[in-house]
Amino acid sequence: TAEWYRTETRGDYARLSEADIEHFKTILPENGLVTDVEDIEMFNTDWMRKFRGQTQLVLKPTSAEQVSKILSYCNDKKLAVVPQGGNTGLVGGSVPLYDEIILSLSNMNKVRSFDNVSGILVADAGVILEAADMYLAEQGFMFPLDLGAKGSCHIGGNVATNAGGLRLLRYGSLHGSVLGLEVVLANGKVVNMLSKLRKDNTGYDLKQLFIGSEGTLGVITAVSILCPQRPAAKNVAYLAVESYEKVQQAFIAAKKDLGEILSAFELMDGRSQGWVQQHCDLTRPVDTESPFFILIETAGSNKEHDDAKLEAFLEDVMEQEIVCDGVVASDETQFQNLWAWRERITEVIGKEGGVYKYDISIPLPQLYNIVDDLRAVFESKDMISKTDASKPVVDVIGYGHVGDGNLHLNIMTREYSERISQVLEPWIYEWVSKVHGSISAEHGLGLIKKHFIQYSKDEDNVYLMKQLKNAYDPNHILNPYKYI
Ligand code: FAD
Ligand code: MLT
Ligand code: ZN
Repeated sequence: TAEWYRTETRGDYARLSEADIEHFKTILPENGLVTDVEDIEMFNTDWMRKFRGQTQLVLKPTSAEQVSKILSYCNDKKLAVVPQGGNTGLVGGSVPLYDEIILSLSNMNKVRSFDNVSGILVADAGVILEAADMYLAEQGFMFPLDLGAKGSCHIGGNVATNAGGLRLLRYGSLHGSVLGLEVVLANGKVVNMLSKLRKDNTGYDLKQLFIGSEGTLGVITAVSILCPQRPAAKNVAYLAVESYEKVQQAFIAAKKDLGEILSAFELMDGRSQGWVQQHCDLTRPVDTESPFFILIETAGSNKEHDDAKLEAFLEDVMEQEIVCDGVVASDETQFQNLWAWRERITEVIGKEGGVYKYDISIPLPQLYNIVDDLRAVFESKDMISKTDASKPVVDVIGYGHVGDGNLHLNIMTREYSERISQVLEPWIYEWVSKVHGSISAEHGLGLIKKHFIQYSKDEDNVYLMKQLKNAYDPNHILNPYKYI
């Protein structure tokens, strides 16, 4: 078909036959196969509704043994497979490009064990992130990752994408908190790396390869992860700031004044907040029209202690005129409402037509410059207006995990068009590469960033990655057309 993202021709893979379906019926229970065209639609389409695959079969195993039998068969027959978690990925990696079989982990959703002394959770890959966190909450613990898609994404999907999320600043990357994995290789071999040890220097740390491998090296069937104590006290402050320079000053002050209790430092530009206001039924936290807002969260064990620290921080930043206005949540509802002004941006900015999403790491001093520079490019070409329907670009906005040096640069458009793509690429990638940033901070490469990896990784790195792919999946049946 003529879909813009289908730039590669279909690989030399086998086509699904009736005999294949009959074989899968011998491996899975009846409800483990989805073949109905309407039921398949949600698996074929990604969260943004930007990419649509053409699979005719979704398989839903309930155990690593079943995954093993499926992959071993697919490898022998050269049938291509896309592992799929909650299908919330934002780079087109979770849906097929052509007719690849979808291997959904959604029926592998049991907690296997939890140790309430060490805080180590072992769970199936298909456990939904929010369900894992709720399970842990009952034991006084929390999952060390949180993100806006928590109600749908799987912990296996999180590991496969090395998701960063809203509290990486405090709890670190999954490369640190994941202690072990159970993985099924393309040839069906089940590899048990499900360690529950924090320290283990016996050989190469192979699990790390699968963290962020986006379904290209193996299927993750279980995760062992170190979970922190759930904080007894939490605070959220939503603050208006007049310049990006002051955002950085606020970050310095937050680290100094809040120290170990700082658990999130998020940035939302004024334009992003305007869109949340337009589309959500929420009362604006502060009256000020400001170019920048920051959301600061603290998490600690002693409410009085945390309140005193937050108060001292707020006095500090107000006195120095770093922050011009703000509000602090006083109960759980306000806490959730303030977070909504950050978490709901992704959903609302898609409502005008199309969104071009760039998830980039940039050194902090230059982080927001790219938003202004790109806006100026569109202005110089007379392509941008919120109200004039003849202009293809509606807005250019920036938000993200500023505490981690990660900006989400989003271009809202009336529709996807070649004219816009030509302005954006490679302009954005060159800009990022010049400041030695990353063209994918946390969402991964998937389908859409695959062709631009050279802006962040040199040929030696790419060569080694290809060697690994060939070693782990010599027939390239796992998530073809993606990643490298
Ligand atoms: P899917 O989308 O199903 O798959 C993603 C990739 O992982 C695909 O390549 C797939 O093949 C592979 N995969 C999935 N499961 C497995 C498995 N078990 N074994 C092997 N490969 C597998 N991301 C962030 O990093 N930070 C954020 O803050 C963030 N916020 C988001 C907010 C919203 C509203 C949305 C819609 C998305 C957000 N994302 C964010 C992106 C997305 O949620 C994450 O990438 C998430 O980790 C994907 O998990 P999933 O289960 O939905 O995976
Ligand atoms: C976020 O931080 O909100 C997510 O990564 C999703 C997005 O980029 O919109
Ligand atoms: Zn993010």
